[in-house]
Amino acid sequence: MALVDDVKSRSDIVQVVSDYVDLDASSRQPKGLCPFHSERTPSFVLDPESGSWRCFGSCADGGDVISFMMKRENMSFVEALEHLANRAGIKVEERKNEPRKKPITGLIEANEIAAEYFISRLKAPVGEKTRNYLSDRGIDTDASVRRGVGLAPDGMETLAGHLRTKNVQAKTARDAGLIARNEDGSWRDMFRGRLTIEIRDSRDRIIGFGARTLDGSEPKYLNTPQTDAFEKSSVLYGLNWAADSIRDSNEAIVVEGYMDVIAAHEHGFTNVVASMGTAVTGRQLDLLARHAGSTGSGGSGGKTGSIVLCLDSDAAGEAATMRALEGVTAELSAGRRRGIEVKVARPDGGKDPDEAIRSDPDKWRMSLNKAVPLLEYLIIAKSKLYNLESGQGIADFANDVAPLIYNVPNDYDRDRHWARTASLAGVSEQRLKTIVDRPRGRSRRPGSRFGNRPGSSISSAQIGAALESSAGDALEEHLLALILQLDDLREYAVAMPAEFFHHSDNRALFTAWQSSSTLGGLSEGLGIDLTEKVHRLAERVLPPSNQARHVEDVTQCVKRMRERHFRLIKELESEQLKQLGGDEAKELLEHSLLSNENLRRVMTGRP
Ligand code: UTP
Ligand code: MN
Repeated sequence: MALVDDVKSRSDIVQVVSDYVDLDASSRQPKGLCPFHSERTPSFVLDPESGSWRCFGSCADGGDVISFMMKRENMSFVEALEHLANRAGIKVEERKNEPRKKPITGLIEANEIAAEYFISRLKAPVGEKTRNYLSDRGIDTDASVRRGVGLAPDGMETLAGHLRTKNVQAKTARDAGLIARNEDGSWRDMFRGRLTIEIRDSRDRIIGFGARTLDGSEPKYLNTPQTDAFEKSSVLYGLNWAADSIRDSNEAIVVEGYMDVIAAHEHGFTNVVASMGTAVTGRQLDLLARHAGSTGSGGSGGKTGSIVLCLDSDAAGEAATMRALEGVTAELSAGRRRGIEVKVARPDGGKDPDEAIRSDPDKWRMSLNKAVPLLEYLIIAKSKLYNLESGQGIADFANDVAPLIYNVPNDYDRDRHWARTASLAGVSEQRLKTIVDRPRGRSRRPGSRFGNRPGSSISSAQIGAALESSAGDALEEHLLALILQLDDLREYAVAMPAEFFHHSDNRALFTAWQSSSTLGGLSEGLGIDLTEKVHRLAERVLPPSNQARHVEDVTQCVKRMRERHFRLIKELESEQLKQLGGDEAKELLEHSLLSNENLRRVMTGRP
């Protein structure tokens, strides 16, 4: 559906207008005083059915909900559209990326001119000190030119002035993030007295710059702010040089910094890109997935793409890094991006890859070869945070890693991680699992786990209590994200019984979704927490895919949740059965046979 139609059909004109006009809603066509001219008797009428408004008074004007906003708020068509889309909970960003992407050629051209200027300044007499600085870091002038490293000087001459002589409009330069307006209305350069580093996209277009301090001032790097051409969290620095190599090798090395990438490529490590300081984001993962392996195209025979995250040594043990890596784990295990394997390389031979590569490239290569799978790395790193000599330390460690392990989709891998955790903790696996259970308030005394009347069937509260700890909501949330974002998938999930959702929040969202037709409508009546969750899920980045694969994805989710549900019921029932005698047991047994039958049907795929 075109965005305009979508916005119109999902905006309730009565609600929108009632923000501005006191409406008498007693008739089918609500009436009020016209907001566009002054009058004493209402001549402003809405027709909710067609979604239109009309002034029968002196305006003699009318239109739809979009024109109402344009007129009332002095908005452009696009502004009104975006405003209403937001209001209705429609994700404009995503849709904008499809057909009506803003043209960014002007910004790219301004960047190209700026880049030429920066390089010319580096080569000029004014660049002498900077050339020396670079050459101390192993980058000669040829390499600077090759890698797009230049200088934004600090003297009288300005980029703003240069751009003017090249007929680049100030507005364009500002939109590109190259200049900014002073309070007195004059323009100033964004980067002054800094080393500049071109940031190109995979099509080799200059979309922004990173600019390093030369005198130790803060921040160390100033980057192009968010522009229509540059959004840091969805860019990988160096992808222009690395794309082919990543495609050929099915592997990408991700480092933290600009200088790391430059050193790597200068030393022949051609598949290296940088996340630019932050943890690898979901969008960056998607970008990599498109280049490495998991697209399955290019004769790679469906080989799995792999990503090696190469940490700086100071970052490796830090809690923030650990959290960042956990974030990456979550992105990966949510049932998306399944084709990618992420490994972590421990730094070796320097504080960062730049140092390590320049001091001993072979050693660095070896440290990459020794990279360990992400979760394994996390489990080992986390084991070092706890005192595993004490019972409490072991319990804390086990509970720290348990949610990560529960999220692993593959049984075999999950078992391996349990085994490793147990061996690090120095306890048996069985013991480990009881430790993980206990702090969640699940006493193991028989009978106390389900304090219900004997013979009654298993309630959803019991299921919730039993599953609370299992961090199993990755599956549920993935399904919710899919159905919230893609209307077309509705029919494949709408009939699913809500109790297959074992987390109460998710179940509440699902139930609301089942009975509402729009995102906006869905959010109404939900509490603030759930509304927030709706938005988070609606904005979650889904992997590039097509309708057929989405349908398959949804169907799989539903199937797995159904299996999980019946398996759990069975488990709960057989525990109950053990505690009962006589008729009660018989009654429950009958019920249990029923859910066994259900389970069997699910497993064999029969209706
Ligand atoms: P580093 O501090 O490791 O920088 O930050 P670096 O690239 O190794 O630079 P040198 O070797 O000190 O010259 C890693 C990356 O984090 C981002 C940049 O992308 C940087 O390359 N960063 C860092 C910023 O964006 N802003 C900052 O202030 C610092
Ligand atoms: Mn560095």
